[in-house]
Amino acid sequence: ISPSILSADFARLADDIQKVETDADWLHVDVMDGMFVPNITIGPPVVAAIRKHTKLPLDVHLMVADPDRYVDAFVAAGADLVTVHAEACTHLDRVLQHIRSLGAGAGVSLNPATPLSAIEEVLDRVDLVLLMTVNPGFGGQRFIPSMMDKIRRLRAQANHAGHAFHIQVDGGIGPANVREIFEAGADVLVAGNSIYGDPDPAEACRRLRRFACGS
Ligand code: DX5
Ligand code: ZN
Repeated sequence: ISPSILSADFARLADDIQKVETDADWLHVDVMDGMFVPNITIGPPVVAAIRKHTKLPLDVHLMVADPDRYVDAFVAAGADLVTVHAEACTHLDRVLQHIRSLGAGAGVSLNPATPLSAIEEVLDRVDLVLLMTVNPGFGGQRFIPSMMDKIRRLRAQANHAGHAFHIQVDGGIGPANVREIFEAGADVLVAGNSIYGDPDPAEACRRLRRFACGS
C-alpha cells in the first residue's frame, strides 16, 4: 500500500504522513511539472523535507517532461524509487540505467493509452512498472475499467519471462475495486483519495490491504 500524498493536506504534510507511517508500506510522491501533465505539485526540496519525517520508502512518481534532468536531485533528496513515464523519455533505457547507477530503484510508467509494447525491451531491467489507471495529473478520478485487462496481460508477461518487477497501479483505487485489481496481478497499490479522503487514513490503509488480500 503506497498512499499518495497528493490528497494529503500540503500545509500539514508531516502530520498526514505520520497518520499512515505504521500501516503503509511505501509513500507515493506525485511530482508534476505543468508540462507533461496540466498541474504543478512539488519538487526536490519538499521531498528532502518529507525524508526527515518518515522511515517509509519514498516512491517518487515523476510526471515531468524529460525527467532525466531531475533524477539526481530527487535521489539526493531521498527518493528510494524513481518512476519515469515512458512517454516522457527520448532515451528510456539510458534514464533507467541512470536511476539505478545512483543506487535507487528504477520504475517505468505508462499512461492508459500507451500499449505495454512501449516498455517490452526494458522489462528485464526495471524494478517496477507503474500502470496508470487514470490519466495522470489529478487525484480523485475514476478508474478506467479497461486497465484491468492491461494489468492481467502485464502480469502474464512478467510470469512467463520470470521477471520480478513490481506491478504498481495508480488512480481511482479504493475498497470497491482493490480485490479485482490485486487478483489481476498488481502488487503495489497507490491510493490518494480513498486514503486521505477518509477521516482515518490508517484504517483506510488497513481496509485496502484487507479487501485486497484478506490480511
Ligand atoms: C494522478 C497521480 C496519483 C493520484 C491518485 O496523476 O499519479 O498518484 O494521487 O489519486 P487517487 O487515488 O485519488 O485517484
Ligand atoms: Zn502517482
